[in-house]
Amino acid sequence: MKFFIDTANLDEIREAYDLGVLDGVTTNPSLMAKEGISGDANVKAHYKAICDIVDDKVSAEVISTDFDGMIKEGKELAKIDDKIVVKIPMIKDGVKALKYFHSEGIRTNCTLVFSAGQAILAAKAGASYLSPFIGRLDDISYDGLELIGQISHIYQNYGFETEILAASVRHTMHLIKCAEIGADVVTCPLKVITGLLKHPLTDSGLAQFLADHAKAAGK
Ligand code: E4P
Repeated sequence: MKFFIDTANLDEIREAYDLGVLDGVTTNPSLMAKEGISGDANVKAHYKAICDIVDDKVSAEVISTDFDGMIKEGKELAKIDDKIVVKIPMIKDGVKALKYFHSEGIRTNCTLVFSAGQAILAAKAGASYLSPFIGRLDDISYDGLELIGQISHIYQNYGFETEILAASVRHTMHLIKCAEIGADVVTCPLKVITGLLKHPLTDSGLAQFLADHAKAAGK
């Protein structure tokens, strides 16, 4: 299972990378805006800065919603660095763009996926990654994890090569359940990755070991 961090914050990306378990980064226009990044040159420079931190797979999202615009923008994004994966929304022209980039050997991440039907379309169009948003489905009383299981089953039926990238992951149990179901990748905030570390028995056990060691050393 791969871990991607879902942020445009360089400090958080560095922290996750330094932990040694990071496989990539996903961003979106809202996350870029949160960091105060705007304007074509600044946006591209920020993507480059992210690429310089990690080993591979940095999702950079197009803003255009028409085919020609997405192709132009996607090609420009892909030129920033070999690590860039062009993020394309699940809309009609987006499906055409996925197909185009597949034929050009440019990796894509199909975003804003909320149904199995959309997942089938993206896989048939040759998306490299598929991002079902599980937290946003949970928010409106649909079962996001159930969708991951459904897509996983469909992709196995037909041997689709598109990797399931569980997105909108809000907490550690989302991540663990995605691992049980067999999602290829999970993208989540730093606190979800570091949250996996936590267990009270680890903390109390370590405190006891250190106290016993100090006691013995003091004899
Ligand atoms: C994924 O690519 C998206 O950037 C992200 O996971 C959305 O998460 P949110 O629903 O917490 O905004």
